[in-house]
Order: sequence, then structure tokens, then C-alpha cells
Amino acid sequence: MSTTPEWIMIGGEGPESYNQHSSYQRALLEAAKEKMNEAISAKLSLDLISDRFSVADFGCASGPNTFVAVQNIIDAVEDKYRKETGQNPADNIEFQVLFNDFTTNDFNTLFQSLPQGRRYYSAGVPGSFFERVLPKQSFHIGVINYAFHFTSKIPKGITDRDSPSWNRDMHCTGFNEAVKKAYLDQYSADTKELLDARAEELVPEGLMLIFGSCLRDGVKMSETSKGIVMDFIGDSFNDLAQQGVIEQDKVDSFSTPLYIAEEGEIRQIIKENGKFTIEAFEDIIHPNSEFPLDPKILAISFRASYGAFLAAHFGADVMRKAFELVEVKAREQFTRLKNAKPGMQYLIVLRKN
Ligand SMILES: C[S@@+](CC[C@H](N)C(=O)[O-])C[C@H]1O[C@@H](n2cnc3c(N)ncnc32)[C@H](O)[C@@H]1O
Repeated sequence: MSTTPEWIMIGGEGPESYNQHSSYQRALLEAAKEKMNEAISAKLSLDLISDRFSVADFGCASGPNTFVAVQNIIDAVEDKYRKETGQNPADNIEFQVLFNDFTTNDFNTLFQSLPQGRRYYSAGVPGSFFERVLPKQSFHIGVINYAFHFTSKIPKGITDRDSPSWNRDMHCTGFNEAVKKAYLDQYSADTKELLDARAEELVPEGLMLIFGSCLRDGVKMSETSKGIVMDFIGDSFNDLAQQGVIEQDKVDSFSTPLYIAEEGEIRQIIKENGKFTIEAFEDIIHPNSEFPLDPKILAISFRASYGAFLAAHFGADVMRKAFELVEVKAREQFTRLKNAKPGMQYLIVLRKN
């Protein structure tokens, strides 16, 4: 059992919710759609498209992006079937969609907002994607959108002041070698577990489509705008500790279970795991580049994605105060944000060996 709290999004459909503030993550699905269609057309074996076709989304959150992701996949599969067989997919194929996330994810909001007129049956699959969550050979295409950067726990030593890998920052900035190694080791071990589990659950020759963001080789997290915002979040909690709102110890003993890897590190992990072939690793031009450079939008979007996890450690009121400071810092240090090095948004297409 991991002692790290689960990193869920802010649920519901309210003003702070992920549901209302996840258009950045959705934009990648749209920007990569053409490349994804090409990959399905070229890499998915026609033999796999028969009476029942299952799509599984890992780390689906409470919507609405997951509906876009799975619909785009179903459209591409139907298109391929129509073109290559001349038959109407609706006559011959039934689709099933498996929505996976932590048990604490807001599945109620997800299922209450399932799109009208959808052409698929749905089921919830609760549990951590670092483990097996489905029977063997139970789906044909898996998708992960912006959830391929998590670790299952905070790496060893990171929150221990006496350890050489103690991290005084709240994330892996990339500047401390010992901290970077601890995070990369943990990420590498966890991602291999994730790939092992999916390889068991996928049908032979099934595909995994992974959308997300990574670092260009040699770039450090705190040199990118996302890393800079994470620095602002850490600085804001430190300010609150200085003001006596929270104890400094609470800030020093906090770190995040996520690691934004370099492209080369991701390739290496997949290669070492050996269960999948990398069919494509596309550099996608995101319409909002690294993130929209607006201090208010940055604070709101990061709060929707990070707020629930931070509130579990610091309390909801302190978390809200911190994000007010994040917006101020983003305004004051706008030039730093503007001059950030670019990150990279990707679509990785994996085929099970
Ligand atoms: C940034 S959100 C992305 C959500 C959605 N895929 C999208 O595109 O909007 C990351 C999601 O991954 C989920 N997640 C993180 N770690 C997970 C794990 N170990 N197992 C299952 N879900 C996980 C979180 O709960 C969250 O819903």
C-alpha cells in the first residue's frame, strides 16, 4: 500500500472543478487527432475490429475530456472499418468503453454527464493504473491523456530532511542531481509496472495511445513555464509559512508524486520494459503552446489539477490562499514565464509486442 494520497482532480462541475478547467488538456486531443487517425488507420490490424471492440481510458477524471478521447478513437476505428470492408460498422460492431481512475475520482459526475447519443456501452474501472485493473486481453485500444507523468508514491528520501535526496522544492525542478535521480528511478519503476499491467490487459497487437507533455532532452523542469508555475506554488506555501499561516515543517515535508520526464527518458523506459514497440512519438503543436500565459488562467487551471492533492496536505483554505499568491507571483514575474524554454506535447503510439 502506498502512503502517498491519491492525486485526484477537483470533482463536480463547480467553479473550481477540473470539469470546468481542463480545456488545455482537451486541446491536445484535438491537435493530435489527425496523427491519431493516421496511427489507427496504419497500425491497428483490421482483424481486431470485429463484433465487440473495447476502448479503455486510464486516468479518465470526471470528464469531459475523456468523452472526446474515446469518441475520437471510436470514429477512427469505424472509419477504418468502413473504408477497408465497405460495410457499415453500426451493423456489425458493438463498442464498450472502460473508464479507469482512482476509486476516489468523481465517477458520479462522469457517468451523469455521459454524452447523449453515444454509440458505446460504458463501465467504470476503479483502481490505480500502476496495477492490473482489468482481466487479461480485455481491450483493443487504451488511451492515457495527461496522466503519464505520475509516480505511485513520493520517492524515498525526498521528504526526509536528513536524506541526501531531501527536496526543499515541492517538485523535481531538475537542478538537484540527487533529487532528479530519486524521481527518475521511481518514475521508471512505476511506468514499467504500468506497461506490464496494460500488456496483460490488451489483446495481442492492441494499441496504447498516450497523450501528454514531457521535457525536451536536456531542458530542466523549472526552465519551462509549467515548472515555473510549480515553483510559484512552492514559493506561495513558503510565504504562508513565513506569515505563520502554516508550519514551515509542513511545507518542508511536502513533495509531489509526479515527474515530467525528458523524451529520451520515456523512450528508454519503454524500450527497457520491452512489452511494446514505439510506433510513433509525435511532437504535437499545442494551440496554447506550453500553457496560456495569463496569470489568472494559470492559477485557476493549476488549482483544478493540483488543488485536491494540495488540500489533502495543507487544508482547503490554505490551498486557496496559496493559489491567490500564485496568481500574484505569475503577474509579478511575467517576464520569467514569457522567457521560459518550450516544453513538448506528445502523442506516443505503442503496439503490444
Ligand atoms: C490531469 S488529469 C487528466 C484527466 C483526463 N485524462 C483528461 O484528459 O482530462 C489526471 C488523472 O489521472 C488520474 N490518476 C493519477 N494517478 C492515477 C493512478 N495511479 N491510477 C488511476 N488514475 C490516476 C487522476 O485521478 C486524474 O483524474
